[in-house]
Amino acid sequence: MRRQEDMSVCHGCVFSTRNSMWLSVSVLVLLLQETSGQIVTQTPSTVVSKLNGNATLSCRFSHTPDQEVKGVILYWYRRGPKNQDEYAYPTSHALPEYQNRVQTIERSKTAEDKSMVLLNVSWTDCHRYHCLLSYDIGKKPERKRGSGVLLQLYDSMTFGRVPEMGSSLRCSVRVSPDPGFRLSMFQNGEYVHTAYTVTPSPNYSTLSLILPILDGVRYECRLNHSSDVLLREAYYIPELPEPVFLYVAILLVPFIVCVIFLTVLLIQSRH
Ligand SMILES: *[C@@H]1O[C@H](CO)[C@@H](O)[C@H](O)[C@H]1NC(C)=O
Ligand SMILES: *[C@@H]1O[C@H](CO)[C@@H](O)[C@H](O)[C@H]1NC(C)=O
Ligand SMILES: *[C@@H]1O[C@H](CO)[C@@H](O)[C@H](O)[C@H]1NC(C)=O
Ligand SMILES: *[C@@H]1O[C@H](CO)[C@@H](O)[C@H](O)[C@H]1NC(C)=O
Repeated sequence: MRRQEDMSVCHGCVFSTRNSMWLSVSVLVLLLQETSGQIVTQTPSTVVSKLNGNATLSCRFSHTPDQEVKGVILYWYRRGPKNQDEYAYPTSHALPEYQNRVQTIERSKTAEDKSMVLLNVSWTDCHRYHCLLSYDIGKKPERKRGSGVLLQLYDSMTFGRVPEMGSSLRCSVRVSPDPGFRLSMFQNGEYVHTAYTVTPSPNYSTLSLILPILDGVRYECRLNHSSDVLLREAYYIPELPEPVFLYVAILLVPFIVCVIFLTVLLIQSRH
């Protein structure tokens, strides 16, 4: 009996602390909702794209339907050298280099997806891009910024014999300067080497590696960024014919000469 009583007392106390906690959380949520109920998310935070391709940089703007969010205006910008906003979108604010190269996925002012597509990307586009949303909540103007998406680029791979070094194989690729890129070589499927030769240029780095060529070995060169394999290319030289075939061929020569000689002799003896 006593045990049961204890339990009911304890149950009551848990219930009441939970209740008051719930109350304070609700009050906090209500207080914050006015300004923090709208969320801007930018994931993934890095986009790795092909040089001269189209890069999609993501931005989502979400809020609960009961919030009166109105007059949403979307901006995309990067930070300038003095930490000022340099716009890529909208066109009326954009730097000349972004004119006619930006498309937005935004289907309507109320749509969540505020992503932008940057067309024909080049080395000078490798920046962190933030989306910025300007809107009215109730009748108060508000602005929210995203945490940004970093754009990284890579070019096509060149993989083949080095003309000036007959028995060497070289793999190289240009990438935007970022330690996440790795160029690796594999021999018959086994990892052998990673490129450390990094040649920086103002706008990109060249990763390259050189290996001696062995006949009959299958080489593969791979470019990866973090755990994503971006490019892979194979190189293979079939082995030279076995010496046995060479001997047979050499032995065949006198045999063929003999046959020709005999044929000529036969033809002559008929006459
Ligand atoms: C990039 O987008 C443009 C316009 O939508 C399209 O014409 C072009 O083919 C796209 N390029 C690539 C590499 O997908
Ligand atoms: C893409 O940009 C490069 C320069 O970065 C230019 O040479 C090329 O013509 C452009 N391609 C398109 C389809 O606009
Ligand atoms: C490299 O960057 C500089 C300025 O940042 C620019 O003037 C030049 O055209 C770029 N070169 C290439 C090949 O993109
Ligand atoms: C990408 O490269 C890094 C560094 O070489 C390596 O640790 C990682 O396993 C590679 N990922 C793949 C999928 O090859």
